[in-house]
Amino acid sequence: MKKIVVLGSINVDTILNIARLPLPGETMAMHDRSVAGGGKGANQAIAAVRAGAQTSFISKIGKDHAADFMIDTFKHDGLNIEHVTEDEKAGTGKAYILLDDKGQNSILIYGGSNQTITVDDIHEAEEAISSADCVISEFETPIPATIEMFKIAKAHGVVTILNPAPAKSDIPSELLENTDIIAPNEIEAEAITGIKVNDVDSMKAASAELHKMGVGTVIITVGSKGSFYSLVDNKFGFVNAFKVKAVDTTAAGDTFIGYLAANLKSDLSNLEEAMTVASKASSFTVQEQGAQNSIPYKKQVNL
Ligand code: RIB
Repeated sequence: MKKIVVLGSINVDTILNIARLPLPGETMAMHDRSVAGGGKGANQAIAAVRAGAQTSFISKIGKDHAADFMIDTFKHDGLNIEHVTEDEKAGTGKAYILLDDKGQNSILIYGGSNQTITVDDIHEAEEAISSADCVISEFETPIPATIEMFKIAKAHGVVTILNPAPAKSDIPSELLENTDIIAPNEIEAEAITGIKVNDVDSMKAASAELHKMGVGTVIITVGSKGSFYSLVDNKFGFVNAFKVKAVDTTAAGDTFIGYLAANLKSDLSNLEEAMTVASKASSFTVQEQGAQNSIPYKKQVNL
């Protein structure tokens, strides 16, 4: 069984269903309001475990009811939470998701305990990291911890996957040099490279920049269109998305990452095949509202 370690955030998501985004100074009624488990790291870890991988999660929760809610989900899915620890002061992370009638979302984040993860927490998980097949991280937790995890992983021949989300422009070179696969969407790719990504030529140009920064494999996800990949030896390809009616795209990218990692061989030789499975899994996530509750199980994806 594939062994994966995810370092990342835990958020309780509050979804506010609205007709459209309010204008400045406007008061608006919402159609509905609901709560679901979320956080990019937790979503990716849940996706990996539901894809059939043995998955350990490194994260931090607060001492509150939100933490109990999230821990129940993790236990139910069989996620290894030995390295999910408690912060004494900060509250568990929260996200407030404005979801409009067209399925478009805008997200506000309260980092809370996610922001208290340290390099020492990574050292506590050193054994899990060094014995994994693959590690994953994103940008909702402090970057020094991610750099430390990727350095340990690389020293032990473990594949490192970076999902550079939310978008950020000033990524330390030490992180990119220790990244095997980077998987931004078009906005995140532009934030890092300065190249507006809107067609295959611009995807190739942005990928070339990322290769120059030290990353061997680039995957750019472009929502309902699909995903593009570029390898350092000048090989490119595109995997079309599965056509479905999307009601909420929250966690679609996270599902893609978790399923990709769970299906990828260590020599990355089946990249296109793993991207196809990841894309099919994401097509389930967008058909339901909410993050973790909409991430499919392996038997549903059935490819
Ligand atoms: O990627 C989706 C996630 O982003 C949501 O679950 C929300 O918590 C934010 O972190």
